[in-house]
Amino acid sequence: MRAEIVVLPGDGVGPEVTRAATRVLAEVGAHHGHTFAIHPHLIGGAAIDACGEPLPADTLAACRRADAVLLGAVGGPQRANLQATVRPEQGLLALRKELGLYANLRPVKPHPAALDASPIKPHLLVGVDLLVVRELTGGIYFGDKQRSATAASDLCEYSVAEVERVIRRACKLARARRGKVVSVDKANVLETSRLWREVATRVHAEEFADVQLEHQLVDSMAMHLLARPREFDVIVTENMFGDILTDEAALLAGSLGLLPSASLGDGGVGLYEPIHGSAPDIAGRGIANPYAAILSVAMLLRHSLRLEDEAAAVEQAVSRALDAHVFTADLGGTLGTEAVTDAVLAQLQAEGCPVRMRD
Ligand code: NAD
Ligand code: IPM
Ligand code: MN
Repeated sequence: MRAEIVVLPGDGVGPEVTRAATRVLAEVGAHHGHTFAIHPHLIGGAAIDACGEPLPADTLAACRRADAVLLGAVGGPQRANLQATVRPEQGLLALRKELGLYANLRPVKPHPAALDASPIKPHLLVGVDLLVVRELTGGIYFGDKQRSATAASDLCEYSVAEVERVIRRACKLARARRGKVVSVDKANVLETSRLWREVATRVHAEEFADVQLEHQLVDSMAMHLLARPREFDVIVTENMFGDILTDEAALLAGSLGLLPSASLGDGGVGLYEPIHGSAPDIAGRGIANPYAAILSVAMLLRHSLRLEDEAAAVEQAVSRALDAHVFTADLGGTLGTEAVTDAVLAQLQAEGCPVRMRD
């Protein structure tokens, strides 16, 4: 097949990890007889520097035309002025909103070879396989913002329809997994959470009797996630809780640099990106972990291009590289971004051949 892929490297380690991801995409194309045309565009701080806005019109137009979008990260230390009215993060938020990408899938499945990278006891991590479905275009991120000299406010709003569609998406995804959904809210305090819980309960009762639904408050969920991670299958939650819980869940996998994501709407283009940010503390040194970006390519192949075999090949290549302790510093290794990517490419080239494991 031929597919048009918009690549948005963005800021900090973004360009470093998207370079790794596009090398993998090119290898998959060559190996499986596809043409993936790469169209680079500006977003975030890089776009502000070039044209004064974080999501230029031609970037958005290209994303709308594309078969899929692959993003690195936005933000950085030169952007530390939090008072600035134009910020890199606005570009990503606007892109998600404009493309209607309300469901952000963030899978977490610790790899056996990387258990030592996690501060959690290994016996708690064995068998963990969970999927966070984060609502991505509503809540406090997108509500009205006010600021005066002495006060500030961010409005948190959800409509019934916004909750229904993401709960439906989570329940459908659970059906194809272990059939369990935990919906996370703060219904003991927040009105939006009470609405969320009511809608989740109703949608579940009316349409998903075959799926098991539980509710958890977000504060205790933050604890349960580390104390008994194996018990969770699909976790569905609102925008900001999902943001925070998934960085926490990165500790289960061992590093933020291992977690990919897919942002999906109803049909239309999908956006694929690592869950980590621009990592300004390590940017420009060639040491960023590229696995999250590479695994985001696998999600792109699966969800946007429907190339399941190719997606599985990328995941297997990553898994074999991890088996062989091909690690960046965040995983306790010494390899750089390029060396790790070379190892994944070698595994893809050797697809189907037995791999020599390290002792
Ligand atoms: P971060 O995710 O950039 O970094 C947190 C920590 O994890 C840092 O110590 C960093 O070095 C490490 N880390 C992250 N990715 C890594 C990788 N691939 N390999 C190795 N280590 C990695 O979060 P932050 O420091 O809180 O935010 C920095 C900037 O990134 C901010 O401007 C923030 O807004 C932005 N951000 C963007 C996105 C995105 O574009 N999707 C996501 C999160 C944060
Ligand atoms: C993420 C990031 C973004 C978010 C920021 C950069 C807007 O933290 O993708 O997880 O909060 O959604
Ligand atoms: Mn985040």
